[in-house]
Amino acid sequence: MKWRKLVIIPKDDVSRELLYLFFQGKAIGGLWENGEKIIVYLEEQKTLDDLPTNLVKHLEETEEPESDWKNYWKKKFPVVWVEKNITIRPPWIGPTGAVIDLVIYPGLAFGTGHHPTTLWCIRMLKKYCKKGNTLLDVGTGSGILSIFASKIGASRIVALDIDPLTQKELQRNCALNNIHPQKIDFKLGSIADVRGKFDLLVVNIGPNFIIENAPLFEEKLVPGGLLIVSGFERKDIQKVCYKLNLLGFQETDRAVQNNWVTMVFSKSRK
Ligand SMILES: C[S@@+](CC[C@H](N)C(=O)[O-])C[C@H]1O[C@@H](n2cnc3c(N)ncnc32)[C@H](O)[C@@H]1O
Repeated sequence: MKWRKLVIIPKDDVSRELLYLFFQGKAIGGLWENGEKIIVYLEEQKTLDDLPTNLVKHLEETEEPESDWKNYWKKKFPVVWVEKNITIRPPWIGPTGAVIDLVIYPGLAFGTGHHPTTLWCIRMLKKYCKKGNTLLDVGTGSGILSIFASKIGASRIVALDIDPLTQKELQRNCALNNIHPQKIDFKLGSIADVRGKFDLLVVNIGPNFIIENAPLFEEKLVPGGLLIVSGFERKDIQKVCYKLNLLGFQETDRAVQNNWVTMVFSKSRK
């Protein structure tokens, strides 16, 4: 099959977001970014007559010979089935029909759902995050955990990261999931900069980060609040538990996949 390749340079950042929304649900073969360009592949006979050209600064169209790029991207970022009714997919794969069908662009920030740590943080959120709960997402990356929490009814959500790139990734992923940007409060900085207490904290970073910041986790949780930690291996379980137990946390749940550990701890009610 022959393909048409569109290279689009959006007018500005807002136009870029709107173009992503436009392409969502269109029968396109693939879409990704290369610097400021959005690259879209269409089957030769398909047209995009309704492309909002007012959002486009530059548009180039070429014919592509038959190639295996489509299978390459499909293989690299297949749909993730979190469970029967929850999926995660990149924007160039069509809706899965799942009740919660998360769309995450595999961009510069970590968190597409393909890594066992992200996957299990989502599963633990599904199990423990109740409607109306508040959540602090420490190290939000792509924003995937905050977006999922928003979908299942968390109320106040703060997405924290030290990498400024993640703000744009979070905004784009919010747009792809029809989540109002103000629903998730992005914060650039450290936990100490976040005000208030939360029902849940989710931290998918590394064992040393967890151990060093454990007192801050305790401070940021309400009595009886839950701490979901991930991003470490079996060999680190003991030292993570030791530190958290010293602070009065009790283990509530645990999952291990491919040697990657995700654990849930509850803070004491007193
Ligand atoms: C493994 S990714 C997790 C992304 C996403 N939460 C997930 O579960 O897929 C870790 C993220 O933590 C961020 N990070 C690293 N150190 C941090 C710190 N001290 N405070 C806040 N975020 C941090 C990184 O920039 C990165 O985006």
